[in-house]
Amino acid sequence: MDKKEVLNTLSQIENKFADALKKHKGTLPAVSKDGVYDNRLDLSVNWTIDNGPAWWTNGFWGGIFNQLYALTGKKEYLDEARESRKLIDTCFLSEYYTGLHHDVGFMWLPTAVADYIMTGDEEAKRRGLLAAQLLAGRYNPQGEFIRAWNDIVPGDKSNKGWVIIDSMLNISILYWATKVTNDPRFAHIAEPHATTVMNAFIREDGSVRHIVEFDADKGGFVCDYGGQGMKQGSSWTRGQSWGIYGFTNSYTHTGRKDFLDAAVKIADHVISVIPESYLIPVDFDQDKNLSFEDSTAAAVIACGLIELDKYVPGKGYKETAEKLIEVLTNQRADFSLERDGILQRCTGSFNGLNDREVNFVYADYYYLEALMKLAGKDVMFW
Ligand code: GLY
Repeated sequence: MDKKEVLNTLSQIENKFADALKKHKGTLPAVSKDGVYDNRLDLSVNWTIDNGPAWWTNGFWGGIFNQLYALTGKKEYLDEARESRKLIDTCFLSEYYTGLHHDVGFMWLPTAVADYIMTGDEEAKRRGLLAAQLLAGRYNPQGEFIRAWNDIVPGDKSNKGWVIIDSMLNISILYWATKVTNDPRFAHIAEPHATTVMNAFIREDGSVRHIVEFDADKGGFVCDYGGQGMKQGSSWTRGQSWGIYGFTNSYTHTGRKDFLDAAVKIADHVISVIPESYLIPVDFDQDKNLSFEDSTAAAVIACGLIELDKYVPGKGYKETAEKLIEVLTNQRADFSLERDGILQRCTGSFNGLNDREVNFVYADYYYLEALMKLAGKDVMFW
């Protein structure tokens, strides 16, 4: 993609979300099915404790408007990002507190931390620090990991030792907290967690597992699960994307070469299995005749490869990212104003019956972030 195409696509994204702002201000969209957004604040829907206001993607709507503020300087975008953050802030002091989870980084990095980095706003800083403290509180010092999710059935602790690869993006809020407080405790949780994940999740061929269970009392690997991928042992594409981007970020924050090597290993696995079409399946191991896609993974892989290319130039990472974004733009982006959401064919999990080939707000967020990186304009908070 040349600079002109990048800027032209960014202007189409802005156009789409300027229109969406008129229609959906004050709501928290997460998924668009058949071109219509849901609203995680609509309490007439029977949300569970963690898929309504505390839903893990609820920071990405605000994140889109923070990136658009970085792009254009238009105050109405910053205002929407802040209003949106205030909607999720209510989770800190309501019944939804018990629904909060390991994904608080995904919620308050694109909102509070992005805002603080751009404007120095003290309220945004306090919210980011609250989220960092919640995440730090999930650390299991015995096993040196941050626990994923809460009890699946209240009181049932069978997943007390579960960790997921997605956590690698969330821990950026801990590195950030150390930077702004000058207190190393947060990084002293992020770094051993990343080490545990590096040692237990990355397979010989460079693919990464989605879920690993550790012994929550003594530490140590117990087993792994296929999670949102096709099956145990397979290569769930979004999991690979979290791995590339997450380990690259841990390298940025710590300078540890083994984290960079981990990102390279996962990236090289991904590049070796990307289909010729550059359309990303839900799982790299799925049947080649099955046209089941996850455009979200394509956008996150692109973001990770652009960052990785800064440290490891000359291996074609940025070129692969550009190709992924070009294919998404030409074949999977819907810029029409009649339908909500841009990227089509995003999928939550391989075996889940909900959210198959829909549009996700977080897919559009990462698509925008990748284009902002290509334009050299992104606000980087991971
Ligand atoms: N963080 C969960 C996912 O990638 O779907």
